[in-house]
Amino acid sequence: MLTVSACAKVNLTLEVLGKRPDGYHNIASIMQAIDLCDTLTFEPHSDISLKCSVPSLNAPQNLVLRAARMLAKQSGTSQGARIYLDKRIPEAGGLGGGSSDAASALKGLNQLWGLGLSTENLAERAAALGSDVAFFLYGGTALASGRGEKITPLKPATEAWLVLLIPAIELTPEKTERLYGQTTSSIYTDGKATNRLKAHLETGRPMQPSWMFNVFEKVAFDFFPGLSVYKQRFLHAGAHSVHLAGSGPTLFTIAADQHEAHDIWHRLRGMGLSAEMARTV
Ligand code: C5P
Repeated sequence: MLTVSACAKVNLTLEVLGKRPDGYHNIASIMQAIDLCDTLTFEPHSDISLKCSVPSLNAPQNLVLRAARMLAKQSGTSQGARIYLDKRIPEAGGLGGGSSDAASALKGLNQLWGLGLSTENLAERAAALGSDVAFFLYGGTALASGRGEKITPLKPATEAWLVLLIPAIELTPEKTERLYGQTTSSIYTDGKATNRLKAHLETGRPMQPSWMFNVFEKVAFDFFPGLSVYKQRFLHAGAHSVHLAGSGPTLFTIAADQHEAHDIWHRLRGMGLSAEMARTV
């Protein structure tokens, strides 16, 4: 048995630079892994199979199964695996849960099957599964460029405590594609916010809300019904500033310390809302 955790991420910056001929968008983003994690367990077996703690995710198109089949085919191995996926990261919330699971499947099976592939080699394969998958092979703090698949690890951000608010908004099919579709040239930027944050991170100073930027904040509040009400509740619970996680709808705040994070989390739970505390990793 082999166990690998699959942590969520937030984008500290997320800029869309422009549309590409292949239909994707070029981005500049600084991604940060956080310790809200799913867990994957691998057991040697003749076939490849997946069992997930969330029954609706037991589907052939689950990225974990796609990653496993792709790696088996490309490596030519005759080995299989029984994979168990225990979910903690909210689904389709902008936290990269599905992509992180896929990256951990590549990592875990590389080890289980004794393939000896490097992180860089796995990252090249990961891009075929989704633009975000490669980041999760590195974790920590990293710059993502291209369509998100080109990863440059950065000096880790100073440890920070986050509170996440997971709105009870119905999942939208093709959410990411639709949100990218709403970005137009009027909200494209030139990567300056990302370069600025990179320079700030190099100083080792604690994260400041004013260093962060997410282009999807310009479209997500119209796209997700009621999201602005969740933002207001978050502010009422004591958040100083509220940010969108990836393309949303999860919202997050950076607290001054663990104690403040706990207070905000506790108030959100008291309002009957779904919230999590997490630390940067
Ligand atoms: O790469 P991934 O499968 O996660 O992307 C989902 C959809 O989001 C793509 O089909 C594309 O429409 C959009 N996308 C984009 N530009 C990116 C990443 C994703 O337009 N950099």
